[in-house]
Amino acid sequence: MWVNAREAAEHFGIGQSTLRSRCERGTAGCPLRRKDPAHPLRWQYWTGQHPPTTEDFLSATQPLPVEVMRPQPLPDEPIEEWIKARVRASKRKRAKHNPARLVTLPAEPMAIAIIGDPHVDNDGCDWSALHDHIKLLSEPGVLITCIGDMQDNWIGRLGKLYANSSSLASEGWKASEWLLSQGQWLAVVGGNHDAWSHVPGLDPLQWLCEQNGVKCYDPDELRLYLQWRDRPDLEALVIKLRHDFRGRSWFHPTHGPHKEALLDGEAHIFAAGHIHQWGELTSEHRRGRVTSAIRVRGYKKADGYAKRGGFPEQQHGESALVVVQPEIEGPGRCQIFWDLASGIKWLRHLRSG
Ligand SMILES: [Fe+2]
Repeated sequence: MWVNAREAAEHFGIGQSTLRSRCERGTAGCPLRRKDPAHPLRWQYWTGQHPPTTEDFLSATQPLPVEVMRPQPLPDEPIEEWIKARVRASKRKRAKHNPARLVTLPAEPMAIAIIGDPHVDNDGCDWSALHDHIKLLSEPGVLITCIGDMQDNWIGRLGKLYANSSSLASEGWKASEWLLSQGQWLAVVGGNHDAWSHVPGLDPLQWLCEQNGVKCYDPDELRLYLQWRDRPDLEALVIKLRHDFRGRSWFHPTHGPHKEALLDGEAHIFAAGHIHQWGELTSEHRRGRVTSAIRVRGYKKADGYAKRGGFPEQQHGESALVVVQPEIEGPGRCQIFWDLASGIKWLRHLRSG
């Protein structure tokens, strides 16, 4: 029969430790033993007159009767419900993705200012020009836009470039906020430097624009449809803003935006920045559509990257002013000024008439 260690020691007339020792060392004549089926950590010893039968050994290898209780799993979501949720998510994403904004304005002369890459926290930012320009553009009738790269916003391994800057990163954000608080802002698109600060669920430049009442923001692209209040007979002015349009030519810095003008088929003004060069190309396309491709230079000067790469540095064209006369058709409708003061004078004259 199978008995516990105490009973087996008594049966064989030896101590329990001697019994265990003999079994562990496999000493000749040691009793057979097995794991106790009821207590797996304890041993049982064979004290019967006959060797244990096969059934005796099988009973020692029987698995423990284990019962597991688990919560009742909820049924999976029906696939039709899942598809409905996907349809809603897709609609939400596509609505957010759409760069179009409908802007309604009085049908009177006004101007769109296109501010080039400010890079406000760069020591090379021409703050003298930027300060003068933003004061000029605070003129009534001017709506300000910016095509991105509000700050250097160095991150990652580029963070070492703050060693060459006398501005703190926090001062860059304060300067951006100041800029957005001046004049009447219509739109901002983000540049590559701005995108570096995106984290999941948060775009700091978007937050700053919302705080300062900028009417339209997109991290990549905006397509503004300017329509004229109570004058449905006047054609809407369509403006496409991006930090950059793809395509380069060393013959002309507007190659990218002009290519876009050729392909777009609808918009009139294509404005970009990014390469820190300026230029303008106005042309007429099929069915009389007049377009202006504009590349503004921005305010970053004494740029070490440009110097190292052998890119000639331009001294003008930081921003542009597009004076719009909604009632005029053809090339006179939008007049582009690179001398902002002259543009403001012309706008003032038009609005006083
Ligand atoms: Fe830039």
